[in-house]
Amino acid sequence: MAAPVRFLTGITTTGTPHLGNYVGAFRPAVEASRRPGTENFYFLADYHALIKCDEPARVQRSTLEIAACWLAVGLDPQRVLFYRQSDIPEIPELTWLLTCVTGKGLLNRAHAYKAAVDKNTAAGLDPDVDVSAGLFMYPVLMAADILMFKAHRIPVGRDQVQHVEMARDIANSFNHLYGELLVAPQAQIDETVALLPGLDGRKMSKSYDNHIPLFAPREQLRKLIAGIVTDSSAPGEPKQVEGSALFQIYEAFASVEETQRLREAYASGIAWSDAKQMLFDRIDREIAPMRERYQALIDDPAEIERILRAGAEKARAIATPFMTELRQAVGLRNLAAQAGRAKAKAAKAALPAFKQYREADGRHYFKLVDAGGRLLAQSAGFASPQEAGRVVAQLKHDAALPPGHALQLAPGITEAEVAAALRQFSQE
Ligand code: TRP
Repeated sequence: MAAPVRFLTGITTTGTPHLGNYVGAFRPAVEASRRPGTENFYFLADYHALIKCDEPARVQRSTLEIAACWLAVGLDPQRVLFYRQSDIPEIPELTWLLTCVTGKGLLNRAHAYKAAVDKNTAAGLDPDVDVSAGLFMYPVLMAADILMFKAHRIPVGRDQVQHVEMARDIANSFNHLYGELLVAPQAQIDETVALLPGLDGRKMSKSYDNHIPLFAPREQLRKLIAGIVTDSSAPGEPKQVEGSALFQIYEAFASVEETQRLREAYASGIAWSDAKQMLFDRIDREIAPMRERYQALIDDPAEIERILRAGAEKARAIATPFMTELRQAVGLRNLAAQAGRAKAKAAKAALPAFKQYREADGRHYFKLVDAGGRLLAQSAGFASPQEAGRVVAQLKHDAALPPGHALQLAPGITEAEVAAALRQFSQE
C-alpha cells in the first residue's frame, strides 16, 4: 500500500470561531480527516496567537473555544493527531534551526509583514512602528509546524498560500545544506469550499465585525440573521440571488435541491423575513446538535486539556526522534560520541598494514609495515595481484605465520613481532 498522504493544518487561537470558519475550515477539515489513505494533523496555533494578541486570558479562552469547536464539529482525536502547538517544545527548537537557513530577504517579502510596513510608511511613520520580530518571524514558525511532521499537503485559505510556499523554500534551503531530511509541503486550496459572506455582504471576518459566532445561542443566531443586509424589495417583488449574502449563506448549508427551492422562492417574491426564517431553520438544523456538544465540552475544560495532552504525546512520539536526527545533522551532537569516533579513527590509523605493489620484474609483491610505516616483512613474487591478495587475506585471517611461509623478514625483525602485528588485524 502507498504511504499515506499527510495533511496538516493549524488555527490561530485568537477570537471565537464564526460560521465562515466553520464552512471554510472546520467542516471541510473534519470531512477530509475521514478519507482513507490519509494521516491528518490538526493543531491549535497558540504560539502564533501571541504574535497578534497580548491578552493572556483571551489566548486561553480562545484555545479552549477552538479546541471545543474541533471536537464538537466531529473531529475524532482517536483517528487524527489533535494537539496544541505549545505542547510540542520541538517546534520552537526547529524554528531556530530554520531561522538560521532563512534569508531575511525572504521574510521581508511576506504579505503580513509588508502590509504592516506599508501601512506605517503610508501614514508617514517609521516603517517598523508596532512591528514585532514575532510578526516578522511568523512564516518561520509556521514552516516549523509543517516541517516537523513531514506534512505533504496544507489545506489553507488563499491568504496563507505564500506562507506554505515559504515553508517549501525553507525546507529546500535546509536540505541543500544538511541533506534531504525535510519534506517540502504543498498548499491545498479546496475550490469547492464556500467563501461565506458576512452580515454586510463582505467576506465574513472578525476584523469586519460582520460575523456570526458559530455557536451563538439560538436566539442570538436568529437576531444576527435578521440583521443580514438585503435590498429594499417588498414582499411579492421578485428578488435577485446574485449578490444576495442571504442566498450565499443558505447555499453553503443547503443541499442542491433546497437551494433550488430558495432560488424559486426568490423569483416568486418571497418576503425577506420569510427567507431569513428559512436560513435560520437550515443553519440551526445543522448546528444545534454541535452546539449542544460544544456547550458540554466548554463546561468541562479538564477533559479538553486531557485530550490535548494525549494528542501532544502522540505528536511528540514523532517530533522528538526527528528533532534528534535534525540536531545531529546540523552538528548539535553528543561530544562523547564524537571523541569515541576520533579514538576509533586514531586506533585504526595505528594498525599495521599490508601494501601491495608490482616490481620491474612484472611480478606482484606485498609487504607488511607496522603502524609507524616500518618494514616488517616482504613477500616473494606472485604471478597476479589476486594471488598476492589471497595470501594477504589468509595471513590476516590466521593471524599467524604459517609453517614454511614465503615471507622474508626485514633485518632485525623477529617472527614473533610479525605474528603480533598480524594478530592486530583479527582484532580490527
Ligand atoms: N497561519 C495560519 C492562519 O492564520 C495558522 C497556522 C499556523 C497554520 N501554523 C500553521 C496553518 C501551519 C497551516 C499550517 O490561518
